[in-house]
Amino acid sequence: MTRIGIDDIAFYTSNFYLDLHILAEKRNTDHDKYASGIGIEKIGIPAPDEDIITMGANAAIQILEQCDRHKIDTLLFATESSVDQSKSAAVFVHRLLDLPSECRTVELKQACYSSTAAVQIACALVARNPEKSVLVISSDIARYDLESAGEATQGCGAVAMLIKADPRILSIEPGSGCYSADTWDFWRPNYCSNPKVDGKFSIINYIRTAKECWKNLAKNTGVDFNSIYRFCYHLPFSTMGLKAHIKLGKEMSAGKTQQELEAQVLPSTVCCRQIGNCYSASAYIALCSLLDNEQDLAGKNVAIFGYGSGCAGEFYYGVVSDSYQKMLRTDHNKKLLSAREAIDFSTYLEFYQASDTKKYQDGNYTTPAVTPGMFRFSGIRNHARMYDRCADDL
Ligand code: CAA
Repeated sequence: MTRIGIDDIAFYTSNFYLDLHILAEKRNTDHDKYASGIGIEKIGIPAPDEDIITMGANAAIQILEQCDRHKIDTLLFATESSVDQSKSAAVFVHRLLDLPSECRTVELKQACYSSTAAVQIACALVARNPEKSVLVISSDIARYDLESAGEATQGCGAVAMLIKADPRILSIEPGSGCYSADTWDFWRPNYCSNPKVDGKFSIINYIRTAKECWKNLAKNTGVDFNSIYRFCYHLPFSTMGLKAHIKLGKEMSAGKTQQELEAQVLPSTVCCRQIGNCYSASAYIALCSLLDNEQDLAGKNVAIFGYGSGCAGEFYYGVVSDSYQKMLRTDHNKKLLSAREAIDFSTYLEFYQASDTKKYQDGNYTTPAVTPGMFRFSGIRNHARMYDRCADDL
């Protein structure tokens, strides 16, 4: 049977972040609650001329510079931060990336889960035509009300993956475990710019979904918990993945200690601590984090849990390819995070207010040039969103 999975993966985040020491002081909160309790130190804040399209394009261009773009016959864009109710984010990115016009383009939504649905759909499409590849982009801006409990779990980022036959990073095993239920833990009505959240219930619901998905994965594939070497969870904040894994592991593993269970997840949480939540992109930025921060994964099983409030979840696993290290961008990724600019609290508020869309309502608006990224959102002309490619090289 043809092996299908992730052949290449790259991520991107804004060049700007807020250090949570600053937020802790302004919100009169113990910084340890952020650093240890939720496990986030810095949150990525998008510049006024960045959005899901620019971040997605900035992630995907890294892959496109090294592959045959004419073999990409589908672009799936997963997000819950849509910029249009009708036109898909995939179409905007398709032009910015100069993909072939024969390419299928569509956007997927189910909160943070849609990226995992996109990966599974991509694998099915490649199984039908193993000569072709599918580009999956997942890009989101996690935004909550100012002064709310969720404020410290904001963030932004995008991940791009090339799904193809004979993948050079992760062969995804057929079969997975899904779980869906109609719940009100986190949702965003069309008339709201920020989500409605029942924080405590969202945590309970996440853990219940992870357990149900694992049970269904085990039932459908016969996989044993102890055969998985490392786990990547959707990370709304880094301790969420750890908390769910420890609860799951205590039921499913044959006597692993808490320390052993933590070691199965910790390398995948390094980026989340520096970026915060990236909604649908989080589980796959966790995979990038694992690949960059763990040694010698070749031949090992890695499980991935995608979760979207509302709710839908899926657990699946894959085998890391022998030559995966040749595909990594570890130095580039570390530099992307370390070279970012820290912003002060007033700039944070300014960037936060900049995403208010009321100013677009007369149909024309010019966005200030702030991001140093390759792609930028330059404004609105006659109600159409305009994007610029600012540089030819990465
Ligand atoms: N030092 C160390 N730890 C501290 C501390 C201190 N001084 N003060 C508190 N803590 C710990 C708490 O004990 C707690 O840890 P445990 O859960 O292990 O006990 C942790 O820090 C958080 O403290 P609280 O529960 O008091 O925090 P909160 O209620 O103010 O907010 C939150 C936490 C509910 C997650 C909130 O950030 C939120 O609403 N976030 C958005 C929703 C969310 O991310 N939900 C996750 C599941 S849903 C999902 O995954 C989809 C998605 O992407 C949104």
